[in-house]
Amino acid sequence: MGPAYTRTLRTLPQFSLEDKTCVVTGSARGLGKEFLTAFALSGARGACVDLSLQDCEASISSVASHVQSAYPNDPAPQLRAYECNATIESDVTSTWARIVKDFGKVDVLVTAAGIVDNVEAENYDYARWRKMLDVNLDGTWLFAREAGRHMLKHNIQGSIILIASMSATICVRPQKQAAYNASKGAVQMLAKSLATEWAPRGIRVNSLSPGYMMTDLIKGLLEHEGKGLVGAWEKDIPMGRMAEPHELRGTIVWMASDASSYLNGSDVIVDGGYTCW
Ligand SMILES: NC(=O)c1ccc[n+]([C@@H]2O[C@H](COP(=O)([O-])OP(=O)(O)OC[C@H]3O[C@@H](n4cnc5c(N)ncnc54)[C@H](O)[C@@H]3O)[C@@H](O)[C@H]2O)c1
Repeated sequence: MGPAYTRTLRTLPQFSLEDKTCVVTGSARGLGKEFLTAFALSGARGACVDLSLQDCEASISSVASHVQSAYPNDPAPQLRAYECNATIESDVTSTWARIVKDFGKVDVLVTAAGIVDNVEAENYDYARWRKMLDVNLDGTWLFAREAGRHMLKHNIQGSIILIASMSATICVRPQKQAAYNASKGAVQMLAKSLATEWAPRGIRVNSLSPGYMMTDLIKGLLEHEGKGLVGAWEKDIPMGRMAEPHELRGTIVWMASDASSYLNGSDVIVDGGYTCW
């Protein structure tokens, strides 16, 4: 028998998420899946919430194999899949109740379920506008409200992270996306509002605002709008490139963990410098 296995990588212990349960909406793919991966790599249990159970199950199985190949001697991460439409109140409350029943408690919520849509304002259908606000704002608020209720009731010093966008702060170009920008501006302000209401009782709420990340959402947009857009975007990014989704892992772990214990009501922009110009 060799010596007991220990990880050789060392960092501040405050970054660890051991014994924490993290719920991530929209984590069947894209940024949400990256966040779930980052949490599992940091020792957390995770709930994958998305529209299709099958997609959630595929996501957690791929996250689990990634984590197991990174740390083959550690126990497999505890991950569970939940089918839920974040825009339906009864779906959100029943899903939250199942998560709490399965894991006992929730310490971290990340709301990454979202959609994007580029249409000029004068031609934007009202139904389409409503859908944008439904998913990006109402779906975010419904989950944040459940998390807040749960954490307040059980005196959990939790961290809630709402995924906004640099589009909450700046109008990106050349695509026209007034509804998306308005939805993300609202998410950013929702985080600040909840931060003021809940921080006195130990719950931190912040928003994370990514710049251009090469996720499935963006790949879909490029299929639709033409790949030439990337060149136009890169000219406006001081770092001169889009980001890979894994480049948000460090930020989300920092925001979720005790390493960010005084971060509250902040919008953390990770955009390669886009909003500087
Ligand atoms: N990709 C980027 O460059 C970028 C930049 C800034 C902000 N964001 C934001 O990050 C979030 C995630 O984006 P992404 O690029 O990973 O997108 P994505 O399309 O790859 O993933 C979004 C996920 O949300 C899920 N979803 C959509 N509607 C839902 C609903 N009603 N209920 C439950 N789940 C639902 C989808 O099924 C999908 O799995 C979005 O809010 C997006 O606006 C993305």
